[in-house]
Amino acid sequence: MKIPLEDYFEDIVGKAQRGLQVSDQELCQRSGLAPEELRSLKRGSGTVTAIPRLAEALGLGANALTASYSKTWYPTNVPDVEGTKQFNSPLIDMTVNAYLIWDPETKEATVFDTGADASELLAFVDSNRLTVKYLFLTHTHQDHVADLGAIVKRTQAEIFSPELERLPETKIVREGDQIRLGKLRIEARLTNGHSPGGTSYVVQGLQNTVAVVGDSLFAGSMGGAPNDYQKALRNNLQKLLSLPGETLVCPGHGPLTTVANEREHNPFFAR
Ligand SMILES: [Fe+2]
Repeated sequence: MKIPLEDYFEDIVGKAQRGLQVSDQELCQRSGLAPEELRSLKRGSGTVTAIPRLAEALGLGANALTASYSKTWYPTNVPDVEGTKQFNSPLIDMTVNAYLIWDPETKEATVFDTGADASELLAFVDSNRLTVKYLFLTHTHQDHVADLGAIVKRTQAEIFSPELERLPETKIVREGDQIRLGKLRIEARLTNGHSPGGTSYVVQGLQNTVAVVGDSLFAGSMGGAPNDYQKALRNNLQKLLSLPGETLVCPGHGPLTTVANEREHNPFFAR
């Protein structure tokens, strides 16, 4: 099943406005759009030719924002990396992702986040005879930790939460920590902004570099960061989009993507 993009035009514009603390009125002044033009764009019935002015006023990429408005983009050339699997579970009116990454030789595995329901993930662990050694949390928003109890009950995993968002009775993970999993190496990078301790995990040793990013970055968007917008942008640019283009990016919501896709098509970064 093709997972829909997490965010479209109106979400992206809203996140940029909240991050920059720009009201609709101010946005009209900055962009030269009439209030009615802005309203029409947000309703999806505006004129595409007005989008570059809006993008400029919000520091967004004009072509990428136009593609988002026209719903013409979806991540392409996303590699199928052996030793990685995405689990997408429904939660009220949205879905959330959890991931399994394992060393195909030793079958030692790590879980990243729990999703709303970890039963499919746990069934996969059983049917593939994986040994779950660790569970790393990207952040502790409820949708990402909702089924922690099931993983605690069914595996022996050591559980790690970010230092700045620590859950009781879990070990701490800090920026720069490196953990070995069979022949794989997992490195923690602080990519906060969306949440105070938001952490991404960069995995080396599979056929591609893999980055599990939680809500720091989405295919064609990023997690909302109304209070720390500049920090979120900077972290994503410096700590994720600096990875090799073919890096598989595993976000907390929406489809898988790559660093190359996001550099070119994410309105927050494609300038
Ligand atoms: Fe979140």
